[in-house]
Amino acid sequence: MNAASSSTWMWYASRATGVVALLLLTAVALLGLMVSRQARLADLPRFAVTGLHRNLSLLAVAFLLLHVLTAVADGYVTIALDSAVIPFTSRYERLWLGIGAVGLDLFLAVIITSLLRGHLGRRAWYAVHLLSYASWPIAFAHSVGSSGDMQSGWMLLLAVACAAALAAGITWRVRAAARDLPRAQRVHALMAELHARKPRAGAQ
Ligand code: HEM
Repeated sequence: MNAASSSTWMWYASRATGVVALLLLTAVALLGLMVSRQARLADLPRFAVTGLHRNLSLLAVAFLLLHVLTAVADGYVTIALDSAVIPFTSRYERLWLGIGAVGLDLFLAVIITSLLRGHLGRRAWYAVHLLSYASWPIAFAHSVGSSGDMQSGWMLLLAVACAAALAAGITWRVRAAARDLPRAQRVHALMAELHARKPRAGAQ
């Protein structure tokens, strides 16, 4: 393989892994919303939904690393490796790659604190985990902004479908939370239900 075709190959690999990473990040975010409501996916038990959320997020890390490494290794444009994690230091596409670096940093913070969850308090872990609500739109902005291809045709449709799926997931999550009774009212409701179920004296 000559240098030019190897570079072309890397460039395509970088673009393809970027698209897969965006799809995986969307699936991970949707599954996260389901896990937070202890919802089930089709006939899967709840622990399987949690496992899928965790494993797909690790797969997303792998695709993100491939995306970044192939973009850096490709010689067509010069991108320094440190600019992938230090935002707005890339000479090439400073704004859009800088936004990508912010998205990557936030996502890595969420993943690393989740892997270390046993050593962190729940509050600290949850505070960092909430960053995933910011990392997705930032990753999305990088994906659409840095790529001419994602600004039209089927690639744009794919991006819009990801955004629509996540918007629907967040709406479902907010509605489900709003339906929850406050804790004090839950105790009353439970007591009332138990009381109603108790067989009355003399009843058969
Ligand atoms: C959350 C992190 C990221 C996600 C989800 C992501 C995803 C994407 C997607 C979907 C594309 C468009 C692919 C296409 O047009 O076919 C893209 C383009 C690109 N990304 Fe990322 N990316 C991320 C972070 C980064 C980082 C940190 C770098 C730094 C090296 C980077 C470098 C690039 C480059 C060089 C392009 C192509 C820009 C061009 O067409 O000129 N990405 N990315």
